[in-house]
Amino acid sequence: MQLHILTDPATTPLGLDVDPGFGECFTPGMILRDYEPGLGWQDARLVPRAPLSIDPAAVALHYGQSIFEGMKAYRDTRGELVLFRPEANAERMTLSAERMAMPPIPVAEFTELVKAFVAHQGACLSDDPSHALYLRPITFGTDGVLGVHPSKAYTFVLLGMIVSSYFKKGSKGLRLRVEDQYVRAVKGGTGAAKTAGNYAASLLAQRKAVEAGCDQVLWLDAQHREYIEELGGMNCFTVLDGTLVTPPLGDTILAGITRDTLLALARHLGIPTEERPLPLSEVLDGISSGRTTEVFATGTAAVISSVAELVWKGETFRLPDAQPIATMLKAKLTGIQKGTEPDTMHWLTHAQPTALV
Ligand SMILES: Cc1ncc(COP(=O)(O)O)c(C=O)c1O
Repeated sequence: MQLHILTDPATTPLGLDVDPGFGECFTPGMILRDYEPGLGWQDARLVPRAPLSIDPAAVALHYGQSIFEGMKAYRDTRGELVLFRPEANAERMTLSAERMAMPPIPVAEFTELVKAFVAHQGACLSDDPSHALYLRPITFGTDGVLGVHPSKAYTFVLLGMIVSSYFKKGSKGLRLRVEDQYVRAVKGGTGAAKTAGNYAASLLAQRKAVEAGCDQVLWLDAQHREYIEELGGMNCFTVLDGTLVTPPLGDTILAGITRDTLLALARHLGIPTEERPLPLSEVLDGISSGRTTEVFATGTAAVISSVAELVWKGETFRLPDAQPIATMLKAKLTGIQKGTEPDTMHWLTHAQPTALV
């Protein structure tokens, strides 16, 4: 694989005049790479960000054959650009591709592309410690032939954007609406893949949550409607009797890289952890009795966001304001990402121009 650089490197930090928030402050470049039938993945191009031309019959538009990832690069205290566990995103994108009958990009090539992109576009990231360079790789089927089938041709796109916090409400805790009608994922379905349809299917429930004055949906399992699964774009943790508990992975939950990282950090810090089915009733009863001391959501975009309230069938359950385990894990995680804590688990990778050019 070659990466042909067809645009100038970024030179200007973005997001300094207006808070960049999340999702709008794109860097000027993007990577494109095509998969051609019979030929496989072609050379990649780093080009100016611009609209794509796509056949209106494209498989992705009609049948949702589309997968993506979300990852971040940071500027550490020495001013260097570092990526956090990019191979884990590459591996998860491979799993998503396999589930959606798509050709994966080899992990090493994906990682090289991401490193090269960050090196080229990294000047967009200022040294404001609340900012990060969020990377959004996506692959989708482009065959312009109708009829439900796996596409023969694909396009990979890598976008970058400068982000600050995911939630606009600052450090105020989240209010989650536990969904009692719709489900996000079923056993044997696509819940463990990062595929577009999972997010499309969550939008109506998310709208209901917002209408109820909540920030996000907390999903229950589809079979029993009893066990906590995750949020729409984040995994869920609770602290019960001093133990950090999170639902086990399976084919209905996205295997969050933040989730995995926090479990490893907690074990390293001597915090008891459990991955086990987590009944909603246990968490709610625990809030009333004082056994449940923390609930928090975790993900690349939102990092660790404490939950202030759970709303279940109209009733609000309020969590304690102070959530010491969430606060400590967040400080550790962001410290490693920014280089103020030692990276003992070797999670950081430096962005480099590499030999791909
Ligand atoms: C459904 C879902 N769950 C959990 C996560 C958290 O995953 P990660 O920690 O890898 O960002 C995400 C974000 O990618 C997600 O979309």
